[in-house]
Amino acid sequence: MKFSFVGAALPKTGAVVIGVNDSVKLGPVATKLDKASGGQLTKAMKLAKFKGEKGDIVSLIAPAGTNLELLLICGLGKDADRTDLVSQNVGGKVLAQLNKHKAKKASMLIEKVKKDDVVAANIAYGALLRSYRFDKYRTTQKSDSKPTLKELSISLSGQTNAKKLFAKLEKIADGVFLGRDVVTEPPNKLYPETYANTIKKELTKLGVVVKILDVKQMTNLGMGSLLGVGQGSIRDSRLVVMEWKGKSKASKEFPVAFVGKGVTFDTGGISLKPAGGMEEMKYDMGGSAAVVGAMAALAGRKAKANVVGIVGLVENMPGHNAQRPSDVVTSMSGQTIEVLNTDAEGRLVLADALWYAQENYKPKKVVDLATLTGAITIALGKEYAGIFSNDDKLSDNLVKAGQETGERLWRFPLGKEYDKMLDSPIADMQNISAGRGAGSITAAQFLQRFIKKGVAWAHLDIAGVAWTKEVQDICPKGATAYGVRLLDNLIANDFEK
Ligand code: BES
Ligand code: MN
Ligand code: ZN
Repeated sequence: MKFSFVGAALPKTGAVVIGVNDSVKLGPVATKLDKASGGQLTKAMKLAKFKGEKGDIVSLIAPAGTNLELLLICGLGKDADRTDLVSQNVGGKVLAQLNKHKAKKASMLIEKVKKDDVVAANIAYGALLRSYRFDKYRTTQKSDSKPTLKELSISLSGQTNAKKLFAKLEKIADGVFLGRDVVTEPPNKLYPETYANTIKKELTKLGVVVKILDVKQMTNLGMGSLLGVGQGSIRDSRLVVMEWKGKSKASKEFPVAFVGKGVTFDTGGISLKPAGGMEEMKYDMGGSAAVVGAMAALAGRKAKANVVGIVGLVENMPGHNAQRPSDVVTSMSGQTIEVLNTDAEGRLVLADALWYAQENYKPKKVVDLATLTGAITIALGKEYAGIFSNDDKLSDNLVKAGQETGERLWRFPLGKEYDKMLDSPIADMQNISAGRGAGSITAAQFLQRFIKKGVAWAHLDIAGVAWTKEVQDICPKGATAYGVRLLDNLIANDFEK
């Protein structure tokens, strides 16, 4: 997709979109068009009871008196309520409607709207996010099932600034697309080794320093918890470290670390999952995709912050060398874990990744993301991800960052009563709770045992939101890359001062 920003004017042919706010008053350029067409725009708005509500669209095919093929009148909502996210959602809806009408090229007019530059940039951004496709493994495709729209030009008076704003948003979209790509890749193509190589290739280009640790290096570091998960697979595990130094190249300080669960496929291991729906477990690396995508976004837009991203990459398979329920492993922290269920593997991967992050980078704040528990979907569905934190400020900042990007978070409690449920009769802890219920909380509680004193930490359980079966305004079906924009926004809000 190509996006451009031009002065307030309209082409005489092709497809045109008129943005209208809740005043339902047309601007000077749109009024001219309305007159030329004998008042068809005003008539259509009236008959459709169009109130300019955000995302409402009235479609006119080949309006008489003009040479246009298609004219859409699109609601932009109230000026006061128009957050960036509202504009992005409008952009996504406009893109879908233009494709529905098989438009190849379109111009959207924005007049009589407050901060038209911000609105235009975010409409383009939303349309871009909605336009994501993954066609790599199709060898044939019916041409009428392909989206037609190739170019969207937005007309407004603040075009210069809109262009500048969009240039930055486009970099974040690159990060989102990278995140969606790696999640969508099938697990026979993307496994720890190939995934690590992809990360290195894509992020090195952007100026991120990428280090890959292999099984030997992780063995030397004592990462028995992560390695135990991967040992049943013929695909060797990896740990990937991504350093972005946007604040100071000289400084060794990384005040914030992002840590992601990257289980490239989760069969459950010896505690095998049922066959039905197991294919969904290719997105069990959604946490890592959020971290990788966020690092790409930060580097792409040259964020003025030092951030380290760490992802633990494993494949959880049954097999003659797989770990057994009742195995005891020793984590890098020195703590021992009795593995009672090999399907509770994400926490085992994160335990060592979290410890590695704290040992090597001494971050003040750590945020981990993981498709950790099915229980979080029972609690929150697909509307919110769960957040668990030992720090109110970090938690509040994450919730706010997510509200702004539409990646919503709902906070859950932590507490020693839950922690106790992880005590093991033969090791320092067991990897599943002894009691019933609170599965997402006890999983978070397990992770907290690997957080050092004084470190502000938040865990995001994204099992319900990393994948969508329904199309959303700014995301087609499939991988969402939930977390990329949230993490990028957290850095923009709180770490770039
Ligand atoms: N990857 C799953 C969690 C998951 C479930 C992600 C559904 C996305 C959609 C995780 O590794 C897992 O299997 N968790 C178990 C934990 C249990 C064994 C304590 C679960 O949720 O059932
Ligand atoms: Mn599992
Ligand atoms: Zn898993």
